[in-house]
Amino acid sequence: MKLLGESLVVFRDGQGRLGLIDERCPHRRVSLRYGIPEVEGLRCCYHGWMFDTTGRCIEMPAEPEDSTFKDRVRTKAYPVEELGGLVFAYLGPPPVPLLPRWDLLVMENVWRDIGVTTIPCNWMQCMENSLDPVHTEWLHGRYYEYVMSRRGMKNESGERMVRRVIGHHLKIGFDVFPHGIIKRRVRAGGSENDASWRFGHPILFPNILRVGWTLQFRVPMDDTHTWHLMYQVLPPPPEAKPTQDRIPVYEIPLTDQLGQHITDFVLGQDMMAWVTQGPIADRDLEKLGDSDQGVILFRRLLREQLAIAEAGGDPMNVFRDPATNTFIEIPVEYGLIEAARARSLATGQAPWSP
Ligand code: FES
Ligand SMILES: [Fe+2]
Repeated sequence: MKLLGESLVVFRDGQGRLGLIDERCPHRRVSLRYGIPEVEGLRCCYHGWMFDTTGRCIEMPAEPEDSTFKDRVRTKAYPVEELGGLVFAYLGPPPVPLLPRWDLLVMENVWRDIGVTTIPCNWMQCMENSLDPVHTEWLHGRYYEYVMSRRGMKNESGERMVRRVIGHHLKIGFDVFPHGIIKRRVRAGGSENDASWRFGHPILFPNILRVGWTLQFRVPMDDTHTWHLMYQVLPPPPEAKPTQDRIPVYEIPLTDQLGQHITDFVLGQDMMAWVTQGPIADRDLEKLGDSDQGVILFRRLLREQLAIAEAGGDPMNVFRDPATNTFIEIPVEYGLIEAARARSLATGQAPWSP
């Protein structure tokens, strides 16, 4: 794994303990990606040095039996924890905070799947897009129609078959709440009584988007690469077990065989927008308008939280009290599909039952 510019290896030892250590073996720098998981730790494939999950070197098979060399060798190690089918790592200063128990990660009796993509741009571009409601009208509306019409998709009257008219935004609003920012909108024909204004869509600071029953994690691998996880929670199909033995992981492709972005689905359209801004978008060259107020607010919040962290404080979403970290419920606006899922999870009925 590449995380925050560091090359690391995640492993599980023979006792089921997870470890996250420097990719390179401290002996002669061979990659521990090719290490051998053993009962006590991860053994380097080159000369057999072994490291436990805390980064201690616990064996050097080729050194003399009475050597104490291994006691003086450590490798970098970070704490990791599993939750909801994901492995989370903490790369910050001590003391290690609690892993946030977001509702979708800890919900029981649901199914999950995870779509992953490595995106060749800075993570902030993904987040700024999530604070920009107006783009949905164009990128996921007008442009989507155009993409489909170029494929010749028409109805019997010769009209474009695909209609993705997403109502014009009459009003957008943004509020900082204890876990991030909620974005709100009123579209043409709607009012402030709509769920899209009353509940809105939250982003969880700093790098998660919540839409309905999904979380999108934007993990900074380094300055110019983001590991994107589309984490989906689903009601179990009828007759199926309420829990899964394994959570399926699949790859969401970024480009086709010709290297062109795939833009006939919503996430593909967003990914195209993020990546084509460049590896790190040049903000100095932007011309921000009134409709960019969410982007501006996010940048301001990030600066504020960075200052708190620099001063030694806890920025937003650092949890230390187990009592407030059992099930962090986030109010969201549901679309039609998500509303059916919500009903189904609440009533135990399949979302597709009449
Ligand atoms: S390089 Fe890892 S044991 Fe020698
Ligand atoms: Fe989008």
